[in-house]
Amino acid sequence: MPVRAAIAFAPATVANVGPGFDVFGFAIDGPGDVVELRRTPRPGVRIAWILGDGGRLPRAASRNVASAVVLKMLRAAAVPFGADLVLRKGLPLGSGMGSSSASAVAAALAANALLDGRFSDRDLLGFARHGERVACGAAHADNVAPCLFGGFTLVRGEPPEVDRIAVPPRWHVAVVHPGIELPTRRARAAVPEKVSVAAMTANVGAAAALIAAMHRRDIASAGRALMADAVVEPARAGLIPGYAAVRRAALAAGAAGASISGAGPSMFALTDGRAGAKMAAAAMAAAWKREGVDAELFVGRMGAPGARLIQEGR
Ligand code: HSE
Repeated sequence: MPVRAAIAFAPATVANVGPGFDVFGFAIDGPGDVVELRRTPRPGVRIAWILGDGGRLPRAASRNVASAVVLKMLRAAAVPFGADLVLRKGLPLGSGMGSSSASAVAAALAANALLDGRFSDRDLLGFARHGERVACGAAHADNVAPCLFGGFTLVRGEPPEVDRIAVPPRWHVAVVHPGIELPTRRARAAVPEKVSVAAMTANVGAAAALIAAMHRRDIASAGRALMADAVVEPARAGLIPGYAAVRRAALAAGAAGASISGAGPSMFALTDGRAGAKMAAAAMAAAWKREGVDAELFVGRMGAPGARLIQEGR
């Protein structure tokens, strides 16, 4: 009997991780988006409900990230049926926590269940990237890969090759989201199109040092490496009010390093253990509060499990 309904969850992610622009990313525990699909005899995708977006996401099937992914998959599979979609946004929009990726990946997993699992993980990554293109015009894979596969991932090339990098078990992160929205499209426009050889060398060195530090379980070195981005973080820091103060607060609270989460404005800090992450999160939120900005806090392991199917019904 075919699957008639499916519900999938996809977690928040932190992309870039300092010098790894469009390359590094990891999943975090807790917050995420849920997509529910129900098979319908009529072809096409209808958005039945979107909850948690304050009415701000597009309701047209081809312009909404989640429904655009499902549409593309149903068309690629050339099936004679369609789907009704419910999207429950657990992630704030334009937050730098991989909100559009979580919608895209949850949609891809739920749609694949309706299609009896005919698409491979690699195919799902491609469909989820289509969602990123709908959201911000660029099909970058550094959020969708960790969102789908979990852990800490490195993506490169076209089509992307994905490597999973083992994260030392004690490494945790504080992710702090200020009550400010920064559209990814705008944050990407701030990234320089050309960089000097000196900046390129600095970023290649820092990115390689971060991976080497993960292998050695050397959190101090990882913290220095993730703060050594010579290209993107300097170009974007000015888009985030209070950026320098919040980063200083994280380091003063004992974090090994802190930087922008994805395209921002959220920031993350790396710590040894959960208690340290809680302290860093509180210090970062307090620094934002002094700037007149309220913030939401998340604390979890660096590299949590990826998206999962919650339920399917036949
Ligand atoms: N790598 C992307 C960027 C992540 O920084 O623009 C955005 O979600």
